[in-house]
Amino acid sequence: MGIETRKMQHVDIALRQKIETTRKGGFEDIEFVHYSLPEINFSDVDLSASFLKRKFAAPLMIVSMTGGFAEAEKINKQLALAAEKENIPLGLGSQRVMLEKPGMKRTFMVRDVAPKVFLAGNIGAVQLQNYSKKQIESLVSSIEANALCIHLNPMQEAVQLEGDKNWKGALLQIGKVCDYLDVPVIAKETGAGINGEVAKQLEDAGVSAIDVSGVGGTSWSAIELYRKDAKAGAAFWNWGNTTAKCLMECSECVDVQLIASGGVRSGLDVAKSIRLGATMAGAGLPFIKAQNSGGVAGIRKEIQLWKEELQIAMFLTRSKTLADLRKAKLQDGCCGEDECCRWKSECCKGRDCGDADCKDGKCWKGGKSGNDCKC
Ligand SMILES: Cc1cc2nc3c(=O)[nH]c(=O)nc-3n(C[C@H](O)[C@H](O)[C@H](O)COP(=O)(O)O)c2cc1C
Repeated sequence: MGIETRKMQHVDIALRQKIETTRKGGFEDIEFVHYSLPEINFSDVDLSASFLKRKFAAPLMIVSMTGGFAEAEKINKQLALAAEKENIPLGLGSQRVMLEKPGMKRTFMVRDVAPKVFLAGNIGAVQLQNYSKKQIESLVSSIEANALCIHLNPMQEAVQLEGDKNWKGALLQIGKVCDYLDVPVIAKETGAGINGEVAKQLEDAGVSAIDVSGVGGTSWSAIELYRKDAKAGAAFWNWGNTTAKCLMECSECVDVQLIASGGVRSGLDVAKSIRLGATMAGAGLPFIKAQNSGGVAGIRKEIQLWKEELQIAMFLTRSKTLADLRKAKLQDGCCGEDECCRWKSECCKGRDCGDADCKDGKCWKGGKSGNDCKC
């Protein structure tokens, strides 16, 4: 079976089958403290976000999904048009197919309808070893991308019958791309979640941002199970680190900007993501569904609803800006980790958190050198 057919099946299955994890993304455990006296004007709430040196209307993004089969051209153009009109970034699906079948390049071309949209190209980490510097650079230049996403999908490749299973040296390859590419590299998972340790390795390799893409939404084990009866997919349907947990861990371990995706399903989830350390929150499945049922207008309606929900969450937490939201009070104990006060209202500065890596109120986790402990 060709790569083109596989790409088409992924979208078809995502649209028609129930392919989300039954484990939630962890957002259900996070509750903001509600303010009955917001003391701000709703219309003064400012959703604008800065990401990779660009300003966007909201901390929201349509993440990498498709390309590489005939109908994908229309899907990508409609996603791009909606993203451009709403001034949010867009990720395209894996461009590997473009390198194998140059005729498929047109399915990734969106600049005719969206000349200004912030566009991220996409390629798999495990496939980098097969391509030259010139080929990788062409992924960015040929579609006039502003960034390149490198996806980490070892679970999907392991479950997929025809998957690439040799991941030796993938980190080294990522580092090389970061060195030579003249646009930022975003490392991303595809729904199983990046933990703090891996995030640190990626930051050291030179990536400019990380999309943790954790458990809580699209399950690639489920998609592969439906697509080719990849039986191991059943056991790994819910495998991985939840999106909320990834954010808590990664924001402690790295300084690069974080994107939250994987089960982000409303503007309230976006607000929680920002509170847990993300700069942007993104989603895939909800936007491709909106495209399928309502075209450009459908996607825009979904984005506008999420913006409204985010604005309400900010209003009710006395957050005029995203910087305020990052410090908004959470209900005590709502992250489920008693020792962890970062997510509660008080600060544990100087107090021992009980973590084996920390002592004397200083955090030594993930290579950090004795910052005040916020674990
Ligand atoms: C139909 C579909 C196709 C996808 N294709 C890609 C891809 O080519 N490259 C990639 O990095 N991620 C891909 N993803 C993963 C998403 O970027 C995202 O990490 C994941 O779906 C979690 O977000 P969600 O729960 O909002 O869907 C795809 C997701 C969907 C739903």
